[in-house]
Amino acid sequence: MTTPTPAVRERLLSLDSAELPAYLYDMTALREHAATVRAALPERVELYYAAKANPEAEILAALGPHVDGYEVSSGGELAHVAKAAPGRPLAFSGPGKTPAELMTALELGVERFHVESLHELHMLAALSARTAPGTAGRPARPGVLLRFNLPLAAASLEGSSLAMGGRPTPFGLDPTEAGTAVRLLTDGTYPQLRLLGVHAHLASGLDAPEQLAVAGSVVTWAADLATRHRIRISEVNVGGGMSVDYAAPERRFDWTAFGAGLGRLTGAHPDLTLRIEPGRSLTAYCGWYATEVLDVKHSHGEEFAVVRGGTHHMRTPATKGHDQPCCVVPVSEWPHPWPRPAAGTERVTVTGQLCTPKDLLSRNVAAPGLRAGDRVAFGLAGAYAWNISHHDFLMHPRPGFHFLTAEQRIRGTRHS
Ligand SMILES: Cc1ncc(COP(=O)(O)O)c(C=O)c1O
Repeated sequence: MTTPTPAVRERLLSLDSAELPAYLYDMTALREHAATVRAALPERVELYYAAKANPEAEILAALGPHVDGYEVSSGGELAHVAKAAPGRPLAFSGPGKTPAELMTALELGVERFHVESLHELHMLAALSARTAPGTAGRPARPGVLLRFNLPLAAASLEGSSLAMGGRPTPFGLDPTEAGTAVRLLTDGTYPQLRLLGVHAHLASGLDAPEQLAVAGSVVTWAADLATRHRIRISEVNVGGGMSVDYAAPERRFDWTAFGAGLGRLTGAHPDLTLRIEPGRSLTAYCGWYATEVLDVKHSHGEEFAVVRGGTHHMRTPATKGHDQPCCVVPVSEWPHPWPRPAAGTERVTVTGQLCTPKDLLSRNVAAPGLRAGDRVAFGLAGAYAWNISHHDFLMHPRPGFHFLTAEQRIRGTRHS
């Protein structure tokens, strides 16, 4: 949704100029969306939230009742999520895990390690042998899901905005290493580790039919691996990457169809726990980056609206190369005695305050009559927004953060 919800709109208009920009999260909308996603999934499909999409503690907590656990991809995320969502299952992913990170994960009692390479497997086994079971939260035998970069039919990732697999990438084990990895975990070499299954996060931005096709291929590949090595694979994690359409924000990932398809898949593999770990598609819709127009300028036949803030707070459009969907909320007051800058054409380019032409938030925005002092709310800002941004570039003040609840008991703070 791009149009701000009533709670977000009200907060946007109630803030002083100096309190902008601000990230406004509609926590009721987030909870409702997460509940809808959960309800669409069959019972035997576990839902983990990929914390990298938005690790704000309030977001992690709000998702708590609707998810089975959290996927973390660094020691920092691990420590943060373990504190913000204590006692919840964690899966530790990510390439290039350091010995210190693995050690912390073992000590914190992380149940699942998504192992990315043979080197990482050896290291995890060595560290695991060194940490006695029972040390802090250390489980008796940490569980391993081997992450594979699986080959896929040429067309399967065509719709993807970001492919991590199906082609040469630094992610996961190559399928040719499967035999070695399985043997190390099952022939008594590393009895301190327990092989649980297979993990694959192959792409982001796939619609439900494409996601289902990928999930089907991963499960089939995992089942063949189990047959080949005469082992039991109890878990398959097919990753995240459910689409969020920034060009057509009202078009949503079809969770109902996806859930039904996953149901067919679990029906065909009754001993398997299937897991997904979406990030973007869970939180993108609940967040708005709200700001005000500082100036409107005409330049060589085009109109530019310069807003407080920019891509140093919300890098999403710069990284993905899209126009962030936005909505203008007109403000009638103009406190100055001089003329109010206003757009003379129907369409404007909305930019931030950075001294670079790359600080583009949204181009070709239909905003006839847009004026300085009007407010703008950028939608779909609940994922990969603040936390992927280069906050310190140009040293502008940081945005406020407001987590709006139904009771309107709202917290608003500047981000540290
Ligand atoms: C291993 C892994 N799992 C899950 C995700 C979440 O992907 P998305 O936010 O597109 O759902 C990512 C994103 O990069 C990832 O690398």
